[in-house]
Amino acid sequence: MPDTLSVTDNRTGKTYELPITDGTVRAMDLRQIKTDADDFGLMAYDPAFTNTASCRSAITYIDGERGILEYRGYPIEQLAEQSTYLETAFLILYGHLPTQAELDAWTHNITYHTFVHENIKKFLEGFRYDAHPMGMLVGTIGALSTFYPDARHVLDEESRELQTWRLIAKVPTLAAFAYRHNRGMPFVYPDNDLSFAGNFLSMLWKMSESKYTPDPVLERAIQVLFILHADHEQNCSANAMRAVGSSRSDPYSATAAAAAALYGPLHGGANEEVLHMLMEIGHKERVPEFVKKFKGGEGRLMGFGHRVYKNYDPRAKIIKRTADEVFDLTGRNPLLDIALELERIALEDDYFIERKLYPNVDFYSGIIYQALGFPMEMFPVLFAIPRTSGWVAQWREMITDPEQKIARPRQIYTDGHKKDYVPIGRR
Ligand code: ACO
Repeated sequence: MPDTLSVTDNRTGKTYELPITDGTVRAMDLRQIKTDADDFGLMAYDPAFTNTASCRSAITYIDGERGILEYRGYPIEQLAEQSTYLETAFLILYGHLPTQAELDAWTHNITYHTFVHENIKKFLEGFRYDAHPMGMLVGTIGALSTFYPDARHVLDEESRELQTWRLIAKVPTLAAFAYRHNRGMPFVYPDNDLSFAGNFLSMLWKMSESKYTPDPVLERAIQVLFILHADHEQNCSANAMRAVGSSRSDPYSATAAAAAALYGPLHGGANEEVLHMLMEIGHKERVPEFVKKFKGGEGRLMGFGHRVYKNYDPRAKIIKRTADEVFDLTGRNPLLDIALELERIALEDDYFIERKLYPNVDFYSGIIYQALGFPMEMFPVLFAIPRTSGWVAQWREMITDPEQKIARPRQIYTDGHKKDYVPIGRR
């Protein structure tokens, strides 16, 4: 059987053979389908890209029906259990697990670049005392491009490598500085003796002690959360990173755009919505009443359902396990009992079963972040730190892909033509 698609244009009666490769037809192959020589040719219409592959990618694989997530072919469960965030970031970026020598060099390079220019502090101080930390993060990531003008050489491999280290290393510093500014606390400089996650905790929570020692359980929990959030293929923010980077703007500007995409409640903000929902429910006994409301279209069960996963989100399963370890230390977040009851009832309910609605990554992540002591405004910031490695990997793949060009979709124009200009007094 040939790998082709036969398309008959009923307007002209002509039939076309379109090659099928990797389960796709090329949208440009549609252009030959014309009613006459002056016709522009057929286009594909796909608002929100729900059925359009915009690139070939070797970074992340998701099988939403079976609940599978892999980075470079390695299952997320194994990475969460056995890897570290920096090792996983290396895997995502370079396509293989590092040797000890590669990991040592990589860790050194990231650790060496954690400091930011002193003027960044002044920049942050310019924000109002109650500025949202994610807004500050977006602003300061963008500002980094002015400190590293060499970053505009995006076609230079060495420059791309240097900016990769800088971005992954400096985003946690900017994130922690944004948090400290928001709390009116002095900035804490990076401590390069600590792990990537441990240093982040130190920059957040160090007070008057001369050396901050992170609790190993909390350090590990942050690390697992970072691994789970490192990449998720062509989501809204990865798409923003690729689209902005496709005009060859520098990677700091493109990462600021990606972080801005993550800021939205439909992307990085859903776990905050879950907490609001759990607080509104208030008690386990009220769960059935709320489930009934959600089924009746009165609001949505936040943290349930996913555009891609039609099964249990594998990240949610891992977070649930991590939550138990954290709660042994911090004490149980009372919202967990409501969440567990909500999950139990929803997963037995025909409405949720028929629509394949399962807990997604956000269902439990907010509960665990809250138990770790983070205010809700920090949730998208915590997402942006590890996702930086995914964004940069997507950007590097895009910039070195000979098939990619400046991202520029088409449109269907919907208004009239050749209207005569009417002076304002006669409108
Ligand atoms: N609660 C109740 N019903 C739901 C829910 C939900 N959480 N999610 C979907 N449905 C229902 C819809 O009403 C619809 O029902 P219908 O067929 O009777 O009209 C059906 O399930 C299909 O829903 P869609 O909105 O078409 O699914 P889509 O793929 O567009 O939406 C989304 C996915 C946005 C994640 C949705 O499930 C949702 O809003 N969930 C809650 C918000 C959330 O948790 N977002 C985080 C996603 S993970 C992330 O971004 C990191």
